[in-house]
Amino acid sequence: MWMHYEYHRNQERCSKCRYCITRVSCPSPNSCVGCRACYLACPSEAIEETTVQPKSAVTITVDGQRVEVPGDTTIKVALEHLGYSFSRYIEDAGFFAPCETGGCYACSVLVNNQVRQSCHTAVSEGQRIETRLSQDQHPIRIVGWHQAHSVGGVGTPWPEKGVGRGWAFYAEAACFSAGCNLRCRTCQNHDVTYDSRAKAVTPEEAARHLLQLRERVAVHRMAISGGEATLNRPWLLRFFRHLKENAPSGSRLHLDTNATVLTKDYIEKLIDAGMTDIGPDLKAVSLETFQTISGVTDSNLAKRYLETSWNAVRHLLQNHYPENVFVGIGLPFNPMFYTSIEVMDSELHEWASRLISLNDQVQVTVLDYRPEFRRADISRPSIDEMKNVKSFLEGVGLRTVIAQTAAGHLAPTTPAPDIEMA
Ligand code: SF4
Ligand code: SF4
Ligand code: FES
Repeated sequence: MWMHYEYHRNQERCSKCRYCITRVSCPSPNSCVGCRACYLACPSEAIEETTVQPKSAVTITVDGQRVEVPGDTTIKVALEHLGYSFSRYIEDAGFFAPCETGGCYACSVLVNNQVRQSCHTAVSEGQRIETRLSQDQHPIRIVGWHQAHSVGGVGTPWPEKGVGRGWAFYAEAACFSAGCNLRCRTCQNHDVTYDSRAKAVTPEEAARHLLQLRERVAVHRMAISGGEATLNRPWLLRFFRHLKENAPSGSRLHLDTNATVLTKDYIEKLIDAGMTDIGPDLKAVSLETFQTISGVTDSNLAKRYLETSWNAVRHLLQNHYPENVFVGIGLPFNPMFYTSIEVMDSELHEWASRLISLNDQVQVTVLDYRPEFRRADISRPSIDEMKNVKSFLEGVGLRTVIAQTAAGHLAPTTPAPDIEMA
């Protein structure tokens, strides 16, 4: 029997933050269609899931065929009823639906000639759905929050960061994409990650806005972060192509990413499209720690995400760094991610050793993960703890380690190597 779900607010757990109203655009406010967006977004985990039987049926047209599907669900679930498959891993057959919160639009279909997220659109009587977008159809996704940054991201080379240069210095013009394939309970940017209310834009619109900001704040670096920017591949490739074609020569185009769907062929296409700098996270070595940090409970999926991120970094460092692409690695850090101090030391030692075997000079930024989103119970690592973890990684042999702390960024102990940029 096919299961359907409905979601309801548990008033006792609800903190009245209004996040599920101000950030989540419910596709069916009067009668839940089970998209899960509010369930995944609620910081207090106050939305509860119940199983229900389909209550109605509707007739729609899918790729020219008239079919009957359950009426109180999303287009994605209706298509699953018809035998279409969806996956949260990029290389699986079928449709890629990685965020399931309406932000990335990777699961887009045409609904009555409009691009809509299948995971976040209610099915309704008479809809005409095309499951494949045509080549000339502009991809869209939710990207915005354009702002100038003084420090940049983990893929910003240390000499270009604004550390110690005063409040008016900007390193980068950046924008942010909604939707993520991970479910990090400490998500440091959850306002953006779970947003399905902001307007979806074409890559050209987002790039134009970024180019204007770049000019206004007089920087040569432009960045996209998230959420997870890589989820909608056609969108991101067009975004970089548009930047490359319209930015002054010498501009640097930077992608901040969790790298979990960054396959080798995708990396090659991104470089071809214009990406010059990348900041992949390597969240862990062990599957257990990766699942603790990422919140991905399906261990097969988590394993593939973790392996893909390490393979992406290996591919970048062995084939493109530093001549074609600057690579800076992010390491999210909080002692609470580990079951004990011994486990933490052993895992960080292995993390650093693996990276050293690829390149001991690569820039690493250790990020002090604050209490955020669903982990209000943890403490932000102290400045001393960040100094210690930085020294530890340097002691293992990493030569360019930066630490983000509550008092600003700690510089690499040894000067960053001179890197010839292309
Ligand atoms: S997001 Fe969660 S805690 Fe906030 S108002 Fe909605 S149900 Fe309540
Ligand atoms: S956001 Fe989705 S899961 Fe939540 S009430 Fe609306 S339809 Fe139901
Ligand atoms: S998977 Fe549907 S919008 Fe991201």
